[in-house]
Amino acid sequence: MADKKFYIETYGCQMNFADSEIVNSILLEDGMSPVHEAEQADVILVNTCSIRENAETKVWNRLKEFRQLKREKSDLTVGVLGCMAERIKDQIIEQEHLVDIVVGPDAYRDIPKLIEEVEDGRKAVNVLLSLEETYADIAPVRTTGNGVTAFVSIMRGCDNMCSFCVVPFTRGRERSRPMESILNEIRQLSEQGYKEVTLLGQNVNSYKDGENTFAKLMYEASQVDPEMRFRFSSPHPKDFPDELLHIIAEKPNLCNYIHIPAQAGSSSMLERMRRPYTREQYLELVEKMKSIIPGLSLSTDIIAGFCDETEEEHEQTLSLMKEVEYDLAYMFAYSERERTLAYRKFEDNVPEEIKKRRLSEIITQQMDIQAKRNKEEIGRRHLVLVEGTSKRSDDQMSGRTDTNKMVVFDRMDFSKGDYVEVEVVDSTSATLIARPVKKSSIAEFYKKEAVA
Ligand code: SAH
Ligand code: SF4
Ligand code: F3S
Repeated sequence: MADKKFYIETYGCQMNFADSEIVNSILLEDGMSPVHEAEQADVILVNTCSIRENAETKVWNRLKEFRQLKREKSDLTVGVLGCMAERIKDQIIEQEHLVDIVVGPDAYRDIPKLIEEVEDGRKAVNVLLSLEETYADIAPVRTTGNGVTAFVSIMRGCDNMCSFCVVPFTRGRERSRPMESILNEIRQLSEQGYKEVTLLGQNVNSYKDGENTFAKLMYEASQVDPEMRFRFSSPHPKDFPDELLHIIAEKPNLCNYIHIPAQAGSSSMLERMRRPYTREQYLELVEKMKSIIPGLSLSTDIIAGFCDETEEEHEQTLSLMKEVEYDLAYMFAYSERERTLAYRKFEDNVPEEIKKRRLSEIITQQMDIQAKRNKEEIGRRHLVLVEGTSKRSDDQMSGRTDTNKMVVFDRMDFSKGDYVEVEVVDSTSATLIARPVKKSSIAEFYKKEAVA
């Protein structure tokens, strides 16, 4: 496939972004070369998401734009990868002159072969899901990142079957990648100068490689490079191991930040969602987390307007969020997905305007909480990992605290990848504004903190 130029556009979750880096690697290995604009490519690949209706609409619109390019360039190949490929392959293929290849999340090794098939004038499809594929032996090629922070997939698929969620149908059964291959990838990233790694899976606490648990994996990761930071996403509240909380508390390079999706605040709703925990159990877990890890920052996912949601249940979601005081939340209006349990058994019966109103109440409250939490940060010192130049001004750098808060501060002579000690001087609901104190390191900053 030498000489061909490819362009990948990615939608959806971090896992999809990590997958695009695997596809990158497969195509480079095949002799193709990457370009950064669709207009320059011979092969355009769109890595897609099906989680909500609007995620799919965005992709359909984009594909129509590519159809225009196809008219101008008859040998252009357009492919759909990822969750939409898996979910609606027939629909995608039936659309004339829109798409040539369709590849599900477990079939990426096949892409070079599928591109060849298209050259023979056929449409090429592989959406087979696998029980084993983890792409463990493929070193992802990170062409679009900042060179400082990286994602590493530790497992694929999901066996949880939350009643609203399409992921188990698009990603297949859960499987874990061997621990040694994960640690090797982390070692390579450390050698390449990366400073932060986020370990990814749909439910990381069910990670299992023989005797090795997720807590063990996090511990081993923390040992690879004491100046490299680690985060993970997402754990499930139903089986969060205490052991991991203690490891996070002990290890300065395991971030004091946990994304712990609640989805809803009432036990009745959680039951309909097939989330096997109650409101009380969730709140107990949060209390335990906060008591074991001082200064812990939490984020969550929330769905507004799921089937049969009452005003009372909505109020309970608001009250749960108020009680926990998340530092960040991803908030969505429920979007019905075919094949899910909710689609088969329940009715999507909360009217659109009520969904919207509830979602906006949830968002407004959350913004107030964040503004308040961030204000409390004024005067505190943090260790920030510099990710790059601030979007707003070339004279400012931006990066995140251990607790995952975005910080901007004067550029001085700091560079991408530096750890900088800062003092927070101002805040908004989304960002901390800080005064840089000095260049530092994990070892130096947390030693001082331990003494204080
Ligand atoms: N595995 C992750 C979630 C992946 S999907 C976890 O369990 O944490 C990311 C988020 O999208 C979910 O947490 C949920 O809040 C939201 N989501 C999933 N299906 C949805 C749907 N049908 N409508 C609206 N939001 C949904
Ligand atoms: Fe979806 Fe639930 Fe699996 Fe997350 S844990 S991917 S919400 S089924
Ligand atoms: Fe979307 Fe698939 Fe991720 S549905 S959220 S890209 S697992």
